[in-house]
Amino acid sequence: MNAVEHSVPLHDFEPDAGDMRDEVMRGLSAVPRVLPSKFFYDTQGSKLFERICEQPEYYLTRAELALMETHLPDMADTLGPRVLLVEYGSGSGIKTHRLLEHLHRPVAYMPLEISRSALEASVGRLAGDFPRIEMLPLCADFTQPVVLPAPVRRQDRTVIYFPGSTIGNFEATRAVQLLRQMREEMGPDGAALVGVDLLKNPAVLEAAYNDAAGVTAAFTLNMLAHINRALGADFDLAGFAHRARFNADASRIETHIESLRSQDVHVAEHTFAFHPGDEILVEYSCKYSRESFARMAGEAGLRVAKVWTDPEELFSLQYLVCA
Ligand code: AVI
Repeated sequence: MNAVEHSVPLHDFEPDAGDMRDEVMRGLSAVPRVLPSKFFYDTQGSKLFERICEQPEYYLTRAELALMETHLPDMADTLGPRVLLVEYGSGSGIKTHRLLEHLHRPVAYMPLEISRSALEASVGRLAGDFPRIEMLPLCADFTQPVVLPAPVRRQDRTVIYFPGSTIGNFEATRAVQLLRQMREEMGPDGAALVGVDLLKNPAVLEAAYNDAAGVTAAFTLNMLAHINRALGADFDLAGFAHRARFNADASRIETHIESLRSQDVHVAEHTFAFHPGDEILVEYSCKYSRESFARMAGEAGLRVAKVWTDPEELFSLQYLVCA
């Protein structure tokens, strides 16, 4: 059966355009200017992100899939039977598909995803492939606490699945808050499985965020197109450029949008003046050593009980339990 035929009712906590307008106004008025990376992900942005994952320089997705292929049986044994799998974000669903195939009698799958179209597409596919697993999609911003609906069959354990190094998109204080929120949502006997990109040669890191085909640049600038579409703003994409640099002191890739000329941009009756070289910070992609991630988890009251990596130790999946 075709995946799109599986329409699964959504629990809807979708943020409205007013929330987005307030955040954009605040971010463009701040010094320095900053916009949250969640605004990358409209329909077009989600498609561009999937293309980034296929670029030869972007090793993260391949390394994560490779390590899963080796360690999935052990991961499934470690997570245990009858889990409620709560995923922060929903992506293309390939990793989730592999995990659900291996888990022992999972009771339900609950993705929390801000992009309704990405959520519907991935849950539609999974519902067709796993008819015995209850699908409980939530259209929601996973950075905000929500009360998770209970599955029909009671789970033995709640497992929060947060693959793809998205934890790296939060600066340290916010990442600790998010790990604390996971700890709350999974409960004392729950667990979290978190994808963490490992610190490595800066040249490899910078190449991953500046692919030769320009897909990452298009993804970054799509944030402006998204704001234009959602809020009726008038960013001229040709007047801005993608810049991604490694900050060794902070151990992270920092992505900015740079204004290439003097220009005024109008957003919801406000005018924002840009000069050549002015930047908007749009994303951190933090890179961790095993030790620095374990320290951060500890600050959130979590303990790293197991780490799986690929043979080159490019990427890791970290199994967290309450400390
Ligand atoms: C989703 N996230 C983990 C990606 C990353 O690597 O930080 C987003 C991304 N930004 C540019 N390329 C990929």
